[in-house]
Amino acid sequence: MKTNEKVKEEAILKKERVIVIDFGGQYNQLVARRVRECNVYCEIYSYKTDIEKIKELNPKGIILTGGPNSCYEPDSPTYSRELFELGIPVLGLCYGAQLMMHVMGGKVETPEVGEYGKTELHLDKSASKVFEGAPETSICWMSHFDRIAKVAPGFEITAHTADCPVAAAENESDGLYAIQFHPEVLHTRYGKEMLSNFVMNVCGCSGDWRMDTFVEDSIREIREKVGDGKVLCALSGGVDSSVAAVMLSKAIGNQLTCVFVDHGLLRKDEGDEVEAVFGPQGNYDLNFIRVNAQERYYTKLAGVTEPEAKRKIIGEEFIRVFEEEAKKIGTVDFLVQGTIYPDVVESGLGGESTVIKSHHNVGGLPDFVDFKEIIEPLRDLFKDEVRKAGLELGIPEKLVFRQPFPGPGLGIRIIGEVTPEKVKMVQEADAIYREEMDKAGMNKTVGQYFAALTNMRSVGVMGDERTYDYAIALRAVNTIDFMTAESAEVPWEVLQKVTSRIVNEVSHVNRVMYDLTGKPPGTIEFE
Ligand code: XMP
Repeated sequence: MKTNEKVKEEAILKKERVIVIDFGGQYNQLVARRVRECNVYCEIYSYKTDIEKIKELNPKGIILTGGPNSCYEPDSPTYSRELFELGIPVLGLCYGAQLMMHVMGGKVETPEVGEYGKTELHLDKSASKVFEGAPETSICWMSHFDRIAKVAPGFEITAHTADCPVAAAENESDGLYAIQFHPEVLHTRYGKEMLSNFVMNVCGCSGDWRMDTFVEDSIREIREKVGDGKVLCALSGGVDSSVAAVMLSKAIGNQLTCVFVDHGLLRKDEGDEVEAVFGPQGNYDLNFIRVNAQERYYTKLAGVTEPEAKRKIIGEEFIRVFEEEAKKIGTVDFLVQGTIYPDVVESGLGGESTVIKSHHNVGGLPDFVDFKEIIEPLRDLFKDEVRKAGLELGIPEKLVFRQPFPGPGLGIRIIGEVTPEKVKMVQEADAIYREEMDKAGMNKTVGQYFAALTNMRSVGVMGDERTYDYAIALRAVNTIDFMTAESAEVPWEVLQKVTSRIVNEVSHVNRVMYDLTGKPPGTIEFE
């Protein structure tokens, strides 16, 4: 029986959402994340979304993102005036602000120069609801060419900068707010407060969307959906599939079978670590199948040196192994996928982003397993929220805060042919590197770091002997979105210690190098 409290909570959860309408800006996901940081559920929709759909969603507020176009050009993304007349508060950011003015009868122009970067912002109406708590002068982040030349009827100017007479404007009685700069970006000193003000003070959200409720509701929904059906999950040991598996296990116990394929390209001891958590001696009620497919992979990879060919072989072999295991289980009712919200948005199903990542498989059903339906329990969450859900579910921190590790594993961290001997070398070197980084506390400050095995052999001397051995490359990068990255500053002493340990402890390695290349022009991985 649901308590009255529970029913009420569900009603709030269903009702209270803010939507972000995406006009192709680079910060669209960031806007949604900031809203969620206010404990308000937020989703991203394309500007092509029908007004009827928006009415049906009945959001408490609407935020229009930036975008690369000029709103007065005929083919530019736009939205009908009706959106601004629904009686729902609207906040337009950058292009969204210009569009609001353009549609509502103001004027947008292209000045001689644009405005980019940190800019001093002066408030003209400090009593504005969105600027509560912000001082008269502060720093904001500008990135625009066009600007608002004249506000629409009913609007007043609420902030300006030296080059931008209308840095913000509002029509308070109609709940319409326009901000030319980017409050979602951390460089805008009071940006977080401004977005929170809009969501809480203007839209009147109560901020009830919390991870514990989300987890509880998801478990209940999964239980209702699955009934007494059988569920299959491909578990990689990565954050997303681990959190999904635990959520399922809490919901339906051993109706869930997790297949973990050890392709022999995992980091040192990783297979055993995953088994320790999810296997029979572990913490969860589920069927765990570990497939030790190392030899199969090494045989397939023998003699292959081209990076894409290696990726393809590793991917295809995974499907084959998984398929074989699935056949042994027979028909399953549901297949679990660890899809997360950025995958959904980037696949073009949510917002306007043009990046399509086919490997995410969003919306497409793999045809190699016989099942009826797919379950994607993390589909609505950003990565940091998946981690929060993981902690809420009691998953060990080591797993929850695990660094990204590519599907093809060490296969793409060994340049050239993959052999069992080379796998061993890179595993040992990587374990030493990670151990020393942990000791130095760098695991908390650096985004991703690992060792790779170059295909270079060179002459060295150890003891009195000449060696002709391999070189290990160490990589450490800081990144926000993994689309760009810069090499991280690792203290010299740490690098020296790691170098000396690798050369001494790992057979057939006689040199260690540190890669200083950023992305671009490099990539994070080596292949
Ligand atoms: P790159 O090397 O493209 O990596 O700069 C960006 C991020 O993605 C990870 N990565 C992969 N993840 N399959 C994956 O699941 C892959 O083939 C793959 N390649 C790279 C990489 O570790 C980094 O975090």
